Amino acid sequence: MPLIKPIQVLSDNIIVIEKLIMIQFLNVTKMYGELKALDNLTFQINLGEMVFIVGPSGAGKSTVLRLLYREEKPTSGQVFVSNVDVSRLPNSQMPLLRRRMGVVFQDFKLLQNKTSFENIAYPLFAIGMDQNEIKKRVHGALKVVGLTNKANDFPKNLSGGEQQRVGIARAIVQGPALLVADEPTGNLDPATSMEIFQLLERINQRGTTVLVATHNQPVVDQMRKRVLALNSGRMVSDVKTGTYISQAN
Ligand SMILES: Nc1ncnc2c1ncn2[C@@H]1O[C@H](COP(=O)(O)OP(=O)(O)OP(=O)(O)O)[C@@H](O)[C@H]1O
Ligand SMILES: [Mg+2]
Repeated sequence: MPLIKPIQVLSDNIIVIEKLIMIQFLNVTKMYGELKALDNLTFQINLGEMVFIVGPSGAGKSTVLRLLYREEKPTSGQVFVSNVDVSRLPNSQMPLLRRRMGVVFQDFKLLQNKTSFENIAYPLFAIGMDQNEIKKRVHGALKVVGLTNKANDFPKNLSGGEQQRVGIARAIVQGPALLVADEPTGNLDPATSMEIFQLLERINQRGTTVLVATHNQPVVDQMRKRVLALNSGRMVSDVKTGTYISQAN
């Protein structure tokens, strides 16, 4: 996908090179019936950033992510991924969006009757990729998440942390530009959670933009990334290297 106007010519001799934008919310309001889940939300995330989105339960974190992967549409306003307004994307273009965006869930959403390899390969089968290419890609993704030795195990024989690694491998197997994760460590113990966040950081360092909604205060405090804090559907702070406590309350 091409990106929004990276270069803006202000006059003959003044040229502004803008940061490349990966995510842009413009005056986004989301109503669920009478309930205002997001209230005129505007923010931007640049290519290559790793950003936490925090806030109390019901603040609207998952709603932000659902609008990004188009499980929901905004009531008003626009949601851009690169320069594509995903809220207006025709259904026929959705597979393209999904190829550019990996999604990681709290409950992993693995198919229980499939091995790690098969779970990760699933989106590649779905687009009709050649068998040899699938093998290469899946083994590459297993290597990134450190699970080469668990390729043939079923989810029930994996720990929670390992299951989430499979979930992450499935999310990155198509080489997405953007990875979004909703409470990826919500079901994991603190040590395992830290490992998962370090894995997400490594994926970010390989060039993928990463957006994580989380309640995991110790990890957010430790990682010193940009923190967006939501409350009642509004952005209450946006700090470059923030901590959970100072931003979320
Ligand atoms: N499908 C839905 N129908 C009706 N209301 C909804 C729906 N999804 C979310 N809401 C409401 O919208 C608000 C924002 O919900 P959201 O799930 O985005 O919050 P959250 O910040 O992710 O919370 P949590 O930390 O508990 O996951 C909440 O008041 C929630 O009850
Ligand atoms: Mg949520």
